[in-house]
Amino acid sequence: MSFFQGCILPDGQTFDAEADQSLLKSMEQGSISWPMSCQAGTCRTCIGQLLEGEVRYEMEWPGLSAEEKREGWILPCVAYPVGNVVLKDPLAD
Ligand code: FES
Repeated sequence: MSFFQGCILPDGQTFDAEADQSLLKSMEQGSISWPMSCQAGTCRTCIGQLLEGEVRYEMEWPGLSAEEKREGWILPCVAYPVGNVVLKDPLAD
């Protein structure tokens, strides 16, 4: 099983971001608290910003606009890491 390193800023908490599972699930396993609801890429509760790295989606079109995607917004419940990722804590100011 391959995994990358995930990091949450500004706190610097880290977690193992497994390549074949959603970032949200990996964060849950790493005891990182993150808002979530549907876990299906539609409600946008889990929306967060990717500061570094890249993700891929298995669904055709997660609930994000092209512009949001360009700005680095991701839906961790359906996003899979393709390398190390740095995320901005949505619960921090
Ligand atoms: S939890 Fe609903 S979009 Fe991620």
